[in-house]
Amino acid sequence: MTAPWRATVLTLFPEMFPGPLGISLAGKALASGLWAVEARDIRASATDKHRSVDDTPAGGGPGMVLRADVLAAAIDTADAPRAFPRLLMSPRGRPLTQSRVRELATGPGALIVCGRFEGVDQRVIEARQLEEVSIGDYVLSGGEIAAMALIDACVRLLPGVMGKAESGSEESFSESLLEYPQYTRPQAFEGRPIPEILTSGDHAKVAAWRKAEAEALTRSRRPDLWTKRQGPRKNTTDG
Ligand code: 6GU
Repeated sequence: MTAPWRATVLTLFPEMFPGPLGISLAGKALASGLWAVEARDIRASATDKHRSVDDTPAGGGPGMVLRADVLAAAIDTADAPRAFPRLLMSPRGRPLTQSRVRELATGPGALIVCGRFEGVDQRVIEARQLEEVSIGDYVLSGGEIAAMALIDACVRLLPGVMGKAESGSEESFSESLLEYPQYTRPQAFEGRPIPEILTSGDHAKVAAWRKAEAEALTRSRRPDLWTKRQGPRKNTTDG
């Protein structure tokens, strides 16, 4: 068997891992060896007697900055193969997309640095060619929860992790569309029936209804996705 997909996480809080990734879908896959995670303490690479990992920002200002020398040593001593993409979780990173997640999941794994404090010394970002990645336009207190989101998104795509039923091409973002609404029993809930078409048994009508719902939802909720979808599909008949 080939080596499982591997996440090497550099963090000041290694005890946060695997955390929620040890439960449910990702947790079962972790236990069965379909992927592996190693959380390494950045502080283990500190060299001074106080084991300091951060210092005040050059030029002044609030907060503390993660030191370039300490983080570089942590990266260099991590046993991540050189071919691994090196990511830095950061609110100033490029937004994570399903297409980047797909690329990462297809590869051998990732080295993931979790930022803390006000930031990371720019020189180590450049010298170790860290790819800065954000999971959205809001600020988390550290990169750990963002790293877990990224890992979860990758792990569910690994071969053998999801059953056929869930892993189809119909999911959100695979076609730049949000998911259509779902219903299950009971047939009536607080006076609200399941839309009649879904219980009609007419599969073509069900598919058409779902497509229309997904499109309407995407247009109103995510005009950015809708525009992106319209562009490349302009010359198709069903766009
Ligand atoms: Cl990757 N890190 C932090 N600290 N905050 C974030 C983020 C990452 N993505 C969005 N907000």
